[in-house]
Amino acid sequence: MHRLTMPRIGFAEAWRGAARDLLLRGVRPCDVIWASEGEDADLFGGQSSGGRGPESVARPTVPKAFLPLAEAALCHAGPERFSLTYKLLWRLQSNRDLLADRADPDVSALHGMEKSVRRDNHKAHAFVRFREIGMSEAGRRQFGAWFEPQHHIVERTAPFFVRRFADMDWMIATPDLVARFVDGKLSIAPCTERPDLPEDDADELWRTYFANIFNPARLKVKAMKSEMPVKYWKNMPEARLIPELIAGAEKAAKAMQDRMPSLAHHRTERVVSRVPLTPEAAQTDARPETIAEARSAAQTCTRCDLCRYATQTVFGEGPETGDVMFVGEQPGDQEDLAGKPFVGPAGRLLDAMLEETGIERGRYYVTNAVKHFKYVPQGKRRLHQRPNAGEIERCKWWLNIERDLIRPKMIVAMGVTAAQAVTGTGEGVMKRRGAIEHLADGTPVFITIHPSAVLRSGDRAAQERARLDFEGDLRALARHLRSLGSQA
Ligand code: URA
Repeated sequence: MHRLTMPRIGFAEAWRGAARDLLLRGVRPCDVIWASEGEDADLFGGQSSGGRGPESVARPTVPKAFLPLAEAALCHAGPERFSLTYKLLWRLQSNRDLLADRADPDVSALHGMEKSVRRDNHKAHAFVRFREIGMSEAGRRQFGAWFEPQHHIVERTAPFFVRRFADMDWMIATPDLVARFVDGKLSIAPCTERPDLPEDDADELWRTYFANIFNPARLKVKAMKSEMPVKYWKNMPEARLIPELIAGAEKAAKAMQDRMPSLAHHRTERVVSRVPLTPEAAQTDARPETIAEARSAAQTCTRCDLCRYATQTVFGEGPETGDVMFVGEQPGDQEDLAGKPFVGPAGRLLDAMLEETGIERGRYYVTNAVKHFKYVPQGKRRLHQRPNAGEIERCKWWLNIERDLIRPKMIVAMGVTAAQAVTGTGEGVMKRRGAIEHLADGTPVFITIHPSAVLRSGDRAAQERARLDFEGDLRALARHLRSLGSQA
């Protein structure tokens, strides 16, 4: 009988070495007892022989699909993780098609383990909540988080956080291990005690963000608990709002229905009723000399048909000497009624995310590629419609005036429409996001997604991933802003 104890840190690599060695020596799965440092051995794992296998293997080989499956399954919390994975490896030497047989109990068990680990990994990406704990001597902000995964995923999940939060020092402590990222170096160690991480402002931000994305009209408690399992709640600051939000959902949904996208009040004067829609009226080509003049002239713009249906022109806002100009798509329902850009749900999300990433919206000029709300009425509601190429092109008149007057050192294009208006193409935004492009005059343009894409991205887990990706873009933007000398 062979007894092997895998270390707590580096177990996947240790298992690979041990399994290869056993296989080369023709050791049957039933002759191995696997254990993990600090855990009981898997005394039952080796009971069945694993079927006929090779006497010995000169060069162990496995189908490609086995490797990711095994890497995930080895992180499972069950004591059988090492023995089962070895058994499969053993059986694959005489049956390379084994993995295709989903009815096989070993294959099915390994897939089950992999799925559960993958899910736990996703949850870690979405639910780790950092708190700021100080500043390193090297001037890097330091953050700490406490997370309780279901499986042994610390080593597996740490590279994700390294990529995501490369510019800060952080640690993620769990009941088993702690991952530390300090001065660009990752280390993993046993966790000896739960760190004391006092509440900080980010907790309140999480709550604000959560309260904003919580849609009472779409609430399905069971689905929500499946996406955000209750066991993770205790370490998520926003989770304390959940019972209250669920209890008030019905009332809030009703209030939302009364308040939500509504046809503009019948007394609201539409632009077109104030200005006759004639080619001459559309073409006052005198260029305004200040933003105030431009804003006022844009109120009577009839360059495209959208002015017929919108309540008013929603012009850009912000300091006129702003180093940076944020460009969205077009005003939404609430912006159309308020006459201000980004004050509705997408604006609230944008504000929360900017604050979280240390970008102060008040310092920058915020505008849209198209200045009138485009929608189709549906009952009492006005459903957003994406502006077409002609509308974007006509409205460039105003965007170019804003650019000329503000002279931003950088433009942030959020979403396809903004990318098209600013760079001439809205194609491939998902591939271009997070990076800088340069216009013909050398102005750098930072491309990212539109914040409403986060709100529209499906279930909570997808939304959480989209939010994290958007946050990643904004952190990259914050770095660019710092290098422009534009952000503290
Ligand atoms: N979406 C935008 O693109 N702009 C706004 O002002 C609001 C929502």
